[in-house]
Amino acid sequence: MRIAETSDLWWKNAVIYCLDVETFFDDDGDGTGDFAGLTQRVDYLAALGVTCIWLMPFYPTPDRDDGYDVTDFFGVDSRLGTLGDLVEFIRAAKDRGMRVIADFVVNHTSDQHPWFVEARKSTDNPFRDFYVWRQDTPPDTSSEVVFPGEENSLWTQDEATGEWYLHMFAKHQPDLNVTNPKVRDQIAKAMGLWLELGLDGFRLDAVPFFLETRGQPKDEAANIDPHAYLAALRSFVSRRNGSAVLLGEVNLPYKEQLEYFGGPDGNELNMQFDFMSMQHIYLSLARQDARALAETLKSRPAIHPDNQWAMFVRNHDELTLDKLSDGERQEVFAAFGPEKNMQIYGRGLRRRLPPMLGGDMERLRMVYSLIFSLPGTPVLFYGEEIGMGEDLRQKGRAAVRTPMQWNSEKNGGFSSAKASDLVAPLVRGEYGPDRVNAAAGKRDPESLFTFMATLIARYREAPELGWGSFAVIDQPEPAVFAHTCSADGGTLVLLHNFGEGTVKVSGKAVPDDGPAHAFRGAVLLDLFDGGNVALDSDGGFSLELGRYGYRWFRVHRKGDRPAP
Ligand code: NOJ
Repeated sequence: MRIAETSDLWWKNAVIYCLDVETFFDDDGDGTGDFAGLTQRVDYLAALGVTCIWLMPFYPTPDRDDGYDVTDFFGVDSRLGTLGDLVEFIRAAKDRGMRVIADFVVNHTSDQHPWFVEARKSTDNPFRDFYVWRQDTPPDTSSEVVFPGEENSLWTQDEATGEWYLHMFAKHQPDLNVTNPKVRDQIAKAMGLWLELGLDGFRLDAVPFFLETRGQPKDEAANIDPHAYLAALRSFVSRRNGSAVLLGEVNLPYKEQLEYFGGPDGNELNMQFDFMSMQHIYLSLARQDARALAETLKSRPAIHPDNQWAMFVRNHDELTLDKLSDGERQEVFAAFGPEKNMQIYGRGLRRRLPPMLGGDMERLRMVYSLIFSLPGTPVLFYGEEIGMGEDLRQKGRAAVRTPMQWNSEKNGGFSSAKASDLVAPLVRGEYGPDRVNAAAGKRDPESLFTFMATLIARYREAPELGWGSFAVIDQPEPAVFAHTCSADGGTLVLLHNFGEGTVKVSGKAVPDDGPAHAFRGAVLLDLFDGGNVALDSDGGFSLELGRYGYRWFRVHRKGDRPAP
Protein backbone atom coordinates (compact mmCIF):
# COMPACT_ATOMS: atom_id res chain seq x y z
CA MET A 1 0.00 0.00 0.00
CA ARG A 2 1.50 3.29 -1.04
CA ILE A 3 1.16 5.46 2.05
CA ALA A 4 1.94 8.63 0.07
CA GLU A 5 -1.47 8.61 -1.59
CA THR A 6 -3.21 8.61 1.77
CA SER A 7 -2.23 12.19 2.43
CA ASP A 8 -3.85 13.28 -0.79
CA LEU A 9 -7.32 11.75 -0.48
CA TRP A 10 -6.91 12.11 3.27
CA TRP A 11 -10.55 11.39 4.08
CA LYS A 12 -10.21 7.78 2.85
CA ASN A 13 -8.58 6.72 6.10
CA ALA A 14 -9.10 9.63 8.47
CA VAL A 15 -10.26 9.26 12.05
CA ILE A 16 -12.99 11.84 12.52
CA TYR A 17 -14.05 13.10 15.96
CA CYS A 18 -17.32 15.01 16.29
CA LEU A 19 -17.75 17.45 19.14
CA ASP A 20 -19.92 20.33 20.19
CA VAL A 21 -17.85 23.29 21.38
CA GLU A 22 -20.47 24.22 23.99
CA THR A 23 -20.19 20.88 25.81
CA PHE A 24 -16.47 20.17 25.37
CA PHE A 25 -14.43 22.39 27.68
CA ASP A 26 -15.29 25.70 29.31
CA ASP A 27 -12.32 28.05 29.55
CA ASP A 28 -13.91 31.19 30.97
CA GLY A 29 -15.98 29.48 33.65
CA ASP A 30 -19.38 30.72 32.52
CA GLY A 31 -20.79 27.20 32.25
CA THR A 32 -20.66 26.94 28.44
CA GLY A 33 -17.80 25.33 26.54
CA ASP A 34 -15.86 27.63 24.22
CA PHE A 35 -13.20 27.72 21.52
CA ALA A 36 -10.55 28.80 24.02
CA GLY A 37 -11.36 25.67 26.03
CA LEU A 38 -11.35 23.40 23.00
CA THR A 39 -7.95 24.78 22.01
CA GLN A 40 -6.60 23.61 25.36
CA ARG A 41 -7.77 20.12 24.56
CA VAL A 42 -6.26 19.66 21.09
CA ASP A 43 -3.38 17.66 22.57
CA TYR A 44 -5.85 15.26 24.15
CA LEU A 45 -7.37 14.65 20.72
CA ALA A 46 -3.97 14.35 19.08
CA ALA A 47 -2.90 11.80 21.71
CA LEU A 48 -6.00 9.77 20.97
CA GLY A 49 -4.97 9.74 17.33
CA VAL A 50 -7.79 11.83 15.86
CA THR A 51 -6.90 13.18 12.42
CA CYS A 52 -9.95 15.36 11.75
CA ILE A 53 -12.19 17.28 14.14
CA TRP A 54 -15.81 17.81 13.10
CA LEU A 55 -17.30 20.85 14.82
CA MET A 56 -21.04 20.80 15.35
CA PRO A 57 -22.70 24.13 14.45
CA PHE A 58 -20.93 27.07 16.10
CA TYR A 59 -22.84 29.85 14.34
CA PRO A 60 -25.01 32.46 16.10
CA THR A 61 -28.21 30.70 17.09
CA PRO A 62 -31.19 30.91 19.43
CA ASP A 63 -30.22 27.27 20.12
CA ARG A 64 -33.63 25.71 19.86
CA ASP A 65 -32.15 22.78 17.91
CA ASP A 66 -28.67 22.57 19.40
CA GLY A 67 -27.31 25.14 16.95
CA TYR A 68 -28.91 23.57 13.86
CA ASP A 69 -31.00 26.74 13.75
CA VAL A 70 -28.63 29.41 12.49
CA THR A 71 -29.15 33.18 12.46
CA ASP A 72 -25.88 34.07 10.69
CA PHE A 73 -23.86 31.78 8.43
CA PHE A 74 -20.90 34.15 8.61
CA GLY A 75 -20.35 34.34 12.35
CA VAL A 76 -19.42 32.56 15.56
CA ASP A 77 -21.93 32.44 18.41
CA SER A 78 -20.66 34.81 21.08
CA ARG A 79 -21.27 32.21 23.80
CA LEU A 80 -18.48 30.13 22.23
CA GLY A 81 -15.98 32.92 21.65
CA THR A 82 -14.97 35.10 18.74
CA LEU A 83 -13.94 34.53 15.16
CA GLY A 84 -10.41 35.05 16.40
CA ASP A 85 -10.82 32.23 18.94
CA LEU A 86 -12.01 29.91 16.18
CA VAL A 87 -8.99 30.74 14.03
CA GLU A 88 -6.63 30.16 16.96
CA PHE A 89 -8.24 26.77 17.47
CA ILE A 90 -7.92 25.82 13.79
CA ARG A 91 -4.29 26.84 13.87
CA ALA A 92 -3.56 24.80 17.01
CA ALA A 93 -5.35 21.75 15.57
CA LYS A 94 -3.37 21.99 12.34
CA ASP A 95 -0.15 22.32 14.29
CA ARG A 96 -0.95 18.91 15.83
CA GLY A 97 -1.61 17.45 12.41
CA MET A 98 -5.39 17.50 12.63
CA ARG A 99 -7.81 18.87 10.09
CA VAL A 100 -11.01 20.66 11.01
CA ILE A 101 -14.39 20.41 9.30
CA ALA A 102 -17.65 22.00 10.40
CA ASP A 103 -21.33 21.34 10.21
CA PHE A 104 -22.94 23.42 7.51
CA VAL A 105 -26.68 23.75 7.87
CA VAL A 106 -28.28 25.40 4.87
CA ASN A 107 -31.46 23.44 4.32
CA HIS A 108 -33.02 25.99 6.64
CA THR A 109 -32.32 28.92 8.91
CA SER A 110 -33.67 29.84 12.31
CA ASP A 111 -36.93 31.79 12.11
CA GLN A 112 -34.94 34.52 13.86
CA HIS A 113 -32.50 34.82 10.98
CA PRO A 114 -32.70 38.40 9.63
CA TRP A 115 -33.59 36.96 6.20
CA PHE A 116 -36.68 35.27 7.59
CA VAL A 117 -37.58 38.20 9.82
CA GLU A 118 -37.67 40.27 6.61
CA ALA A 119 -39.19 37.60 4.39
CA ARG A 120 -42.27 37.07 6.50
CA LYS A 121 -43.16 40.79 6.54
CA SER A 122 -44.85 40.91 3.14
CA THR A 123 -45.18 38.97 -0.11
CA ASP A 124 -43.10 41.55 -1.95
CA ASN A 125 -40.28 41.75 0.55
CA PRO A 126 -36.88 41.37 -1.20
CA PHE A 127 -36.11 38.36 1.03
CA ARG A 128 -39.47 36.67 0.43
CA ASP A 129 -37.99 34.29 -2.15
CA PHE A 130 -35.23 33.21 0.19
CA TYR A 131 -37.85 30.84 1.61
CA VAL A 132 -40.57 28.60 0.20
CA TRP A 133 -44.15 29.84 0.41
CA ARG A 134 -47.54 28.65 -0.74
CA GLN A 135 -50.83 30.48 -0.89
CA ASP A 136 -53.24 27.56 -0.81
CA THR A 137 -53.97 25.24 2.08
CA PRO A 138 -51.27 22.55 2.15
CA PRO A 139 -52.11 18.86 1.98
CA ASP A 140 -51.79 16.65 5.03
CA THR A 141 -48.07 16.05 5.52
CA SER A 142 -48.28 14.68 9.05
CA SER A 143 -46.77 11.35 8.01
CA GLU A 144 -43.69 13.08 6.57
CA VAL A 145 -42.54 15.15 9.54
CA VAL A 146 -39.01 14.44 10.76
CA PHE A 147 -39.77 15.09 14.42
CA PRO A 148 -43.08 13.29 15.02
CA GLY A 149 -44.69 14.33 18.27
CA GLU A 150 -43.07 17.76 17.97
CA GLU A 151 -44.51 18.80 14.59
CA ASN A 152 -47.52 17.65 12.61
CA SER A 153 -47.05 19.40 9.27
CA LEU A 154 -44.26 20.49 6.93
CA TRP A 155 -46.09 23.78 6.40
CA THR A 156 -46.96 26.53 8.86
CA GLN A 157 -49.27 29.43 8.14
CA ASP A 158 -47.65 32.77 8.85
CA GLU A 159 -49.77 35.48 10.38
CA ALA A 160 -48.54 38.54 8.51
CA THR A 161 -49.49 37.34 5.01
CA GLY A 162 -51.66 34.28 5.65
CA GLU A 163 -49.36 32.19 3.44
CA TRP A 164 -47.69 28.95 4.48
CA TYR A 165 -43.93 28.42 4.65
CA LEU A 166 -42.12 25.12 4.25
CA HIS A 167 -40.10 23.57 7.07
CA MET A 168 -38.83 20.01 6.70
CA PHE A 169 -37.80 20.12 10.37
CA ALA A 170 -39.29 22.24 13.19
CA LYS A 171 -41.52 25.19 12.41
CA HIS A 172 -38.84 27.50 13.80
CA GLN A 173 -36.54 26.21 11.00
CA PRO A 174 -37.96 27.57 7.73
CA ASP A 175 -36.50 25.93 4.61
CA LEU A 176 -34.32 28.04 2.38
CA ASN A 177 -35.28 28.23 -1.28
CA VAL A 178 -32.23 26.69 -2.89
CA THR A 179 -33.56 27.42 -6.37
CA ASN A 180 -33.05 31.12 -5.71
CA PRO A 181 -29.65 32.16 -7.13
CA LYS A 182 -29.29 34.73 -4.35
CA VAL A 183 -29.55 31.96 -1.76
CA ARG A 184 -27.00 29.88 -3.64
CA ASP A 185 -24.67 32.87 -3.72
CA GLN A 186 -24.93 33.27 0.02
CA ILE A 187 -24.24 29.56 0.55
CA ALA A 188 -21.12 29.72 -1.61
CA LYS A 189 -19.95 32.91 0.06
CA ALA A 190 -20.33 31.41 3.54
CA MET A 191 -18.46 28.25 2.53
CA GLY A 192 -15.81 30.43 0.97
CA LEU A 193 -15.36 32.32 4.22
CA TRP A 194 -14.79 29.23 6.34
CA LEU A 195 -12.47 27.64 3.79
CA GLU A 196 -10.46 30.85 3.67
CA LEU A 197 -10.16 30.73 7.45
CA GLY A 198 -8.66 27.27 7.24
CA LEU A 199 -11.46 24.73 7.41
CA ASP A 200 -10.89 21.50 5.49
CA GLY A 201 -14.48 20.91 4.56
CA PHE A 202 -17.99 20.52 5.83
CA ARG A 203 -20.43 18.03 7.20
CA LEU A 204 -23.44 18.96 5.12
CA ASP A 205 -26.62 18.71 7.13
CA ALA A 206 -29.73 17.00 5.78
CA VAL A 207 -28.56 16.88 2.16
CA PRO A 208 -31.67 15.38 0.50
CA PHE A 209 -33.85 18.00 2.17
CA PHE A 210 -31.46 20.76 1.29
CA LEU A 211 -31.60 19.83 -2.40
CA GLU A 212 -35.31 19.18 -2.38
CA THR A 213 -37.28 21.63 -4.51
CA ARG A 214 -40.72 20.78 -3.16
CA GLY A 215 -43.17 23.63 -3.18
CA GLN A 216 -40.89 25.86 -5.16
CA PRO A 217 -42.31 27.48 -8.26
CA LYS A 218 -42.11 24.92 -11.08
CA ASP A 219 -40.17 27.14 -13.46
CA GLU A 220 -37.54 27.88 -10.83
CA ALA A 221 -37.33 24.28 -9.67
CA ALA A 222 -36.85 23.22 -13.28
CA ASN A 223 -33.79 25.45 -13.49
CA ILE A 224 -31.95 23.52 -10.91
CA ASP A 225 -31.12 19.87 -11.11
CA PRO A 226 -30.27 19.04 -7.49
CA HIS A 227 -27.39 16.75 -8.40
CA ALA A 228 -25.94 19.24 -10.85
CA TYR A 229 -26.08 21.81 -8.07
CA LEU A 230 -24.33 19.48 -5.63
CA ALA A 231 -21.62 18.78 -8.21
CA ALA A 232 -21.22 22.52 -8.77
CA LEU A 233 -20.96 23.14 -5.04
CA ARG A 234 -18.35 20.43 -4.77
CA SER A 235 -16.34 21.99 -7.64
CA PHE A 236 -16.57 25.37 -5.97
CA VAL A 237 -15.31 23.97 -2.66
CA SER A 238 -12.44 22.18 -4.42
CA ARG A 239 -11.45 25.36 -6.24
CA ARG A 240 -11.26 27.24 -2.96
CA ASN A 241 -9.43 24.47 -1.06
CA GLY A 242 -8.20 21.53 -3.13
CA SER A 243 -8.20 19.14 -0.19
CA ALA A 244 -11.56 20.12 1.31
CA VAL A 245 -14.09 17.39 1.86
CA LEU A 246 -17.88 17.31 1.73
CA LEU A 247 -19.27 14.76 4.16
CA GLY A 248 -22.99 14.47 3.66
CA GLU A 249 -25.80 13.39 5.91
CA VAL A 250 -27.93 11.28 3.57
CA ASN A 251 -30.00 8.71 5.42
CA LEU A 252 -31.33 6.86 2.37
CA PRO A 253 -30.99 3.37 0.91
CA TYR A 254 -27.66 2.66 -0.77
CA LYS A 255 -29.01 3.02 -4.29
CA GLU A 256 -30.02 6.60 -3.65
CA GLN A 257 -26.86 7.34 -1.70
CA LEU A 258 -24.89 6.36 -4.77
CA GLU A 259 -26.49 9.26 -6.63
CA TYR A 260 -25.35 11.67 -3.93
CA PHE A 261 -21.78 10.48 -4.46
CA GLY A 262 -22.29 11.50 -8.09
CA GLY A 263 -22.74 7.90 -9.28
CA PRO A 264 -19.79 6.45 -11.19
CA ASP A 265 -18.32 9.94 -11.66
CA GLY A 266 -18.00 10.41 -7.91
CA ASN A 267 -18.17 14.18 -8.33
CA GLU A 268 -20.69 15.17 -5.64
CA LEU A 269 -20.27 14.32 -1.95
CA ASN A 270 -16.85 12.91 -1.11
CA MET A 271 -18.20 11.05 1.88
CA GLN A 272 -21.49 9.87 3.29
CA PHE A 273 -22.41 8.25 6.56
CA ASP A 274 -23.22 4.58 6.21
CA PHE A 275 -26.60 4.58 7.95
CA MET A 276 -27.53 1.20 6.50
CA SER A 277 -24.65 -0.77 7.98
CA MET A 278 -24.92 1.17 11.25
CA GLN A 279 -28.52 0.06 11.69
CA HIS A 280 -27.76 -3.52 10.71
CA ILE A 281 -24.87 -3.67 13.17
CA TYR A 282 -27.44 -3.11 15.91
CA LEU A 283 -29.73 -5.74 14.46
CA SER A 284 -26.84 -8.21 14.33
CA LEU A 285 -25.83 -7.33 17.88
CA ALA A 286 -29.38 -7.80 19.12
CA ARG A 287 -29.56 -11.21 17.43
CA GLN A 288 -25.97 -12.23 18.23
CA ASP A 289 -25.98 -13.16 14.56
CA ALA A 290 -23.73 -11.35 12.10
CA ARG A 291 -25.64 -12.30 8.96
CA ALA A 292 -27.80 -9.17 8.79
CA LEU A 293 -24.65 -7.04 8.73
CA ALA A 294 -22.90 -9.34 6.24
CA GLU A 295 -25.86 -9.16 3.84
CA THR A 296 -26.04 -5.37 4.14
CA LEU A 297 -22.35 -4.93 3.42
CA LYS A 298 -22.50 -7.31 0.49
CA SER A 299 -25.25 -5.15 -0.96
CA ARG A 300 -23.31 -1.92 -0.47
CA PRO A 301 -22.53 -0.52 -3.91
CA ALA A 302 -19.03 0.11 -5.15
CA ILE A 303 -18.19 3.82 -5.10
CA HIS A 304 -15.71 5.96 -7.00
CA PRO A 305 -12.19 5.50 -5.59
CA ASP A 306 -12.09 9.13 -4.44
CA ASN A 307 -15.18 8.66 -2.29
CA GLN A 308 -15.64 7.07 1.07
CA TRP A 309 -18.16 5.74 3.58
CA ALA A 310 -18.15 7.22 7.08
CA MET A 311 -18.64 4.44 9.62
CA PHE A 312 -20.21 5.16 13.00
CA VAL A 313 -22.16 3.57 15.81
CA ARG A 314 -23.40 6.69 17.55
CA ASN A 315 -23.81 10.38 16.89
CA HIS A 316 -25.50 13.40 18.45
CA ASP A 317 -28.96 12.42 17.19
CA GLU A 318 -31.14 9.50 18.14
CA LEU A 319 -29.82 6.11 17.12
CA THR A 320 -32.14 5.90 14.16
CA LEU A 321 -33.46 2.48 13.17
CA ASP A 322 -35.71 3.82 10.44
CA LYS A 323 -34.32 1.57 7.72
CA LEU A 324 -35.16 -1.63 9.60
CA SER A 325 -38.53 -3.33 9.29
CA ASP A 326 -40.97 -2.81 12.18
CA GLY A 327 -40.20 -6.28 13.48
CA GLU A 328 -36.44 -5.79 13.26
CA ARG A 329 -36.68 -2.43 15.01
CA GLN A 330 -38.64 -4.05 17.84
CA GLU A 331 -35.86 -6.63 18.21
CA VAL A 332 -33.32 -3.84 18.65
CA PHE A 333 -35.62 -1.92 21.01
CA ALA A 334 -36.11 -5.07 23.11
CA ALA A 335 -32.36 -5.67 23.32
CA PHE A 336 -31.05 -2.15 23.79
CA GLY A 337 -33.86 0.20 24.74
CA PRO A 338 -36.90 -1.59 26.08
CA GLU A 339 -38.20 1.33 28.14
CA LYS A 340 -40.43 3.92 26.49
CA ASN A 341 -38.23 6.68 27.89
CA MET A 342 -35.26 5.31 25.93
CA GLN A 343 -37.11 5.48 22.63
CA ILE A 344 -37.82 8.51 20.52
CA TYR A 345 -39.82 9.42 17.41
CA GLY A 346 -40.98 5.80 17.20
CA ARG A 347 -37.82 4.98 15.24
CA GLY A 348 -34.81 5.42 17.48
CA LEU A 349 -33.04 5.26 20.80
CA ARG A 350 -31.70 8.24 22.73
CA ARG A 351 -28.86 6.30 24.28
CA ARG A 352 -25.11 5.92 24.11
CA LEU A 353 -23.52 2.56 23.40
CA PRO A 354 -21.98 1.48 26.74
CA PRO A 355 -25.27 1.51 28.70
CA MET A 356 -27.02 -0.17 25.78
CA LEU A 357 -24.53 -3.02 26.09
CA GLY A 358 -24.99 -3.13 29.86
CA GLY A 359 -21.44 -1.87 30.36
CA ASP A 360 -20.03 -5.10 28.92
CA MET A 361 -16.49 -4.03 28.07
CA GLU A 362 -15.69 -7.11 25.98
CA ARG A 363 -18.69 -6.51 23.80
CA LEU A 364 -18.00 -2.79 23.61
CA ARG A 365 -14.45 -3.36 22.42
CA MET A 366 -15.67 -5.84 19.84
CA VAL A 367 -18.07 -3.23 18.43
CA TYR A 368 -15.38 -0.56 18.12
CA SER A 369 -12.95 -3.07 16.66
CA LEU A 370 -15.63 -3.87 14.10
CA ILE A 371 -16.33 -0.24 13.23
CA PHE A 372 -12.64 0.46 12.66
CA SER A 373 -12.17 -2.73 10.65
CA LEU A 374 -15.03 -2.20 8.21
CA PRO A 375 -14.06 -0.58 4.93
CA GLY A 376 -14.52 3.13 5.48
CA THR A 377 -13.51 6.03 7.69
CA PRO A 378 -14.49 5.80 11.37
CA VAL A 379 -16.31 8.69 13.01
CA LEU A 380 -16.45 9.02 16.79
CA PHE A 381 -18.80 11.18 18.82
CA TYR A 382 -17.06 12.91 21.75
CA GLY A 383 -16.99 10.80 24.89
CA GLU A 384 -17.20 7.50 23.03
CA GLU A 385 -13.48 7.00 23.60
CA ILE A 386 -13.99 6.95 27.38
CA GLY A 387 -17.31 5.10 27.39
CA MET A 388 -19.67 7.91 28.38
CA GLY A 389 -23.33 7.09 28.97
CA GLU A 390 -26.54 9.03 28.42
CA ASP A 391 -28.75 10.99 30.81
CA LEU A 392 -32.34 9.96 30.29
CA ARG A 393 -33.58 12.79 32.50
CA GLN A 394 -32.79 15.18 29.68
CA LYS A 395 -35.36 15.95 27.04
CA GLY A 396 -35.24 14.20 23.67
CA ARG A 397 -31.90 13.95 21.94
CA ALA A 398 -30.25 16.03 24.70
CA ALA A 399 -29.82 12.73 26.58
CA VAL A 400 -26.61 12.04 24.63
CA ARG A 401 -25.36 15.65 24.52
CA THR A 402 -24.11 16.06 28.09
CA PRO A 403 -20.74 17.73 28.86
CA MET A 404 -17.48 15.90 28.25
CA GLN A 405 -16.23 14.17 31.40
CA TRP A 406 -12.62 15.19 31.91
CA ASN A 407 -11.99 14.11 35.50
CA SER A 408 -13.78 13.19 38.72
CA GLU A 409 -13.75 16.71 40.11
CA LYS A 410 -16.42 19.41 40.14
CA ASN A 411 -18.62 19.26 37.02
CA GLY A 412 -16.46 16.44 35.73
CA GLY A 413 -13.72 19.02 35.08
CA PHE A 414 -15.82 20.50 32.25
CA SER A 415 -16.37 23.91 33.87
CA SER A 416 -15.74 25.77 37.10
CA ALA A 417 -19.20 27.37 36.99
CA LYS A 418 -22.00 26.67 39.45
CA ALA A 419 -23.77 23.45 38.48
CA SER A 420 -26.96 25.45 37.90
CA ASP A 421 -25.16 27.61 35.29
CA LEU A 422 -23.97 24.72 33.13
CA VAL A 423 -25.12 24.54 29.52
CA ALA A 424 -26.25 20.98 30.27
CA PRO A 425 -26.00 18.86 33.41
CA LEU A 426 -23.35 16.17 33.79
CA VAL A 427 -24.39 12.53 33.65
CA ARG A 428 -25.05 11.11 37.12
CA GLY A 429 -24.66 7.64 38.54
CA GLU A 430 -22.90 4.65 37.03
CA TYR A 431 -21.67 6.56 33.98
CA GLY A 432 -21.01 9.84 35.78
CA PRO A 433 -17.55 11.46 35.91
CA ASP A 434 -16.70 9.69 39.18
CA ARG A 435 -16.45 6.46 37.26
CA VAL A 436 -16.02 7.50 33.65
CA ASN A 437 -13.56 10.25 32.83
CA ALA A 438 -10.69 11.06 30.49
CA ALA A 439 -8.03 11.62 33.17
CA ALA A 440 -8.47 8.12 34.55
CA GLY A 441 -8.70 6.59 31.09
CA LYS A 442 -5.44 8.13 29.94
CA ARG A 443 -3.57 6.70 32.92
CA ASP A 444 -4.98 3.19 32.81
CA PRO A 445 -3.39 0.79 30.32
CA GLU A 446 -6.54 -1.38 30.45
CA SER A 447 -9.00 1.48 29.82
CA LEU A 448 -11.29 1.98 26.87
CA PHE A 449 -9.33 5.15 26.05
CA THR A 450 -6.08 3.21 25.82
CA PHE A 451 -7.78 0.55 23.73
CA MET A 452 -9.26 3.18 21.43
CA ALA A 453 -5.90 4.91 20.97
CA THR A 454 -4.33 1.57 20.03
CA LEU A 455 -7.19 0.78 17.68
CA ILE A 456 -6.72 4.13 15.98
CA ALA A 457 -2.98 3.55 15.62
CA ARG A 458 -3.58 0.10 14.07
CA TYR A 459 -6.23 1.53 11.76
CA ARG A 460 -3.85 4.22 10.54
CA GLU A 461 -1.12 1.64 9.94
CA ALA A 462 -3.51 -0.44 7.85
CA PRO A 463 -4.60 1.79 4.97
CA GLU A 464 -6.08 -1.28 3.27
CA LEU A 465 -9.09 -0.68 5.55
CA GLY A 466 -9.85 2.69 4.06
CA TRP A 467 -8.58 2.01 0.57
CA GLY A 468 -8.82 -1.66 -0.15
CA SER A 469 -11.29 -4.02 -1.73
CA PHE A 470 -13.53 -5.84 0.68
CA ALA A 471 -14.79 -9.43 0.81
CA VAL A 472 -16.87 -11.30 3.35
CA ILE A 473 -15.57 -14.78 4.24
CA ASP A 474 -18.79 -16.72 4.72
CA GLN A 475 -18.90 -18.66 7.95
CA PRO A 476 -20.82 -21.67 9.21
CA GLU A 477 -21.25 -20.06 12.65
CA PRO A 478 -23.88 -17.27 12.37
CA ALA A 479 -22.28 -15.27 15.17
CA VAL A 480 -19.07 -14.74 13.19
CA PHE A 481 -18.37 -11.88 10.87
CA ALA A 482 -15.16 -12.48 8.92
CA HIS A 483 -13.82 -10.26 6.18
CA THR A 484 -10.75 -9.25 4.27
CA CYS A 485 -9.55 -5.89 3.02
CA SER A 486 -6.84 -5.90 0.36
CA ALA A 487 -4.90 -3.27 -1.52
CA ASP A 488 -1.63 -3.22 -3.43
CA GLY A 489 -0.72 -6.77 -2.42
CA GLY A 490 -1.48 -6.21 1.27
CA THR A 491 -4.30 -8.21 2.84
CA LEU A 492 -5.92 -7.95 6.22
CA VAL A 493 -8.10 -10.65 7.74
CA LEU A 494 -10.58 -9.35 10.31
CA LEU A 495 -12.67 -11.54 12.57
CA HIS A 496 -15.48 -10.65 14.97
CA ASN A 497 -17.68 -12.75 17.20
CA PHE A 498 -21.13 -11.27 17.81
CA GLY A 499 -21.98 -13.99 20.29
CA GLU A 500 -21.37 -14.90 23.90
CA GLY A 501 -20.06 -18.38 23.18
CA THR A 502 -16.69 -19.52 21.87
CA VAL A 503 -16.86 -20.09 18.12
CA LYS A 504 -14.77 -21.67 15.40
CA VAL A 505 -13.72 -19.52 12.47
CA SER A 506 -12.21 -20.78 9.28
CA GLY A 507 -11.61 -19.59 5.77
CA LYS A 508 -9.02 -18.64 3.25
CA ALA A 509 -6.92 -15.59 3.89
CA VAL A 510 -6.81 -14.54 0.27
CA PRO A 511 -9.80 -16.18 -1.35
CA ASP A 512 -8.76 -15.93 -5.01
CA ASP A 513 -5.09 -15.30 -4.88
CA GLY A 514 -2.28 -17.01 -6.69
CA PRO A 515 -0.97 -20.56 -6.61
CA ALA A 516 -1.27 -22.53 -3.42
CA HIS A 517 2.46 -22.77 -2.80
CA ALA A 518 2.58 -18.98 -2.33
CA PHE A 519 1.40 -19.55 1.22
CA ARG A 520 4.02 -22.06 2.31
CA GLY A 521 5.45 -20.66 5.54
CA ALA A 522 3.01 -17.74 5.57
CA VAL A 523 1.36 -16.53 8.76
CA LEU A 524 -1.49 -14.36 9.88
CA LEU A 525 0.36 -11.68 11.77
CA ASP A 526 -1.67 -10.51 14.74
CA LEU A 527 -1.97 -6.72 14.80
CA PHE A 528 -2.85 -6.62 18.49
CA ASP A 529 -1.46 -9.13 20.94
CA GLY A 530 -3.20 -12.43 20.37
CA GLY A 531 -0.35 -14.31 18.71
CA ASN A 532 0.28 -15.23 15.08
CA VAL A 533 -1.52 -18.04 13.28
CA ALA A 534 0.21 -20.25 10.70
CA LEU A 535 -1.55 -20.45 7.34
CA ASP A 536 -2.07 -23.74 5.52
CA SER A 537 -0.22 -24.07 2.26
CA ASP A 538 -3.40 -23.12 0.36
CA GLY A 539 -3.94 -20.00 2.51
CA GLY A 540 -6.52 -21.64 4.75
CA PHE A 541 -6.78 -20.98 8.45
CA SER A 542 -8.92 -22.03 11.37
CA LEU A 543 -9.01 -20.74 14.91
CA GLU A 544 -11.34 -20.02 17.79
CA LEU A 545 -12.76 -16.73 18.94
CA GLY A 546 -13.85 -16.31 22.54
CA ARG A 547 -16.88 -14.42 23.84
CA TYR A 548 -17.26 -11.25 21.74
CA GLY A 549 -13.76 -11.92 20.47
CA TYR A 550 -12.08 -10.02 17.67
CA ARG A 551 -8.79 -10.42 15.80
CA TRP A 552 -7.02 -8.29 13.24
CA PHE A 553 -4.41 -10.04 11.09
CA ARG A 554 -2.13 -9.14 8.24
CA VAL A 555 -1.26 -11.89 5.78
CA HIS A 556 2.50 -12.19 5.90
CA ARG A 557 4.29 -14.39 3.42
CA LYS A 558 7.91 -15.45 3.51
CA GLY A 559 9.97 -12.72 1.97
CA ASP A 560 7.33 -10.01 2.49
CA ARG A 561 8.68 -6.76 3.82
CA PRO A 562 8.45 -6.54 7.60
CA ALA A 563 5.01 -5.22 8.51
CA PRO A 564 4.73 -2.07 10.66
C1 NOJ B 1 -29.72 16.74 11.18
C2 NOJ B 1 -28.96 17.00 12.44
O1 NOJ B 1 -28.07 15.94 12.67
C3 NOJ B 1 -29.98 17.17 13.55
O2 NOJ B 1 -29.36 17.23 14.80
C4 NOJ B 1 -30.81 18.38 13.26
O3 NOJ B 1 -31.83 18.50 14.22
C5 NOJ B 1 -31.42 18.31 11.87
N1 NOJ B 1 -30.53 17.88 10.86
C6 NOJ B 1 -31.96 19.67 11.47
O4 NOJ B 1 -30.89 20.52 11.17
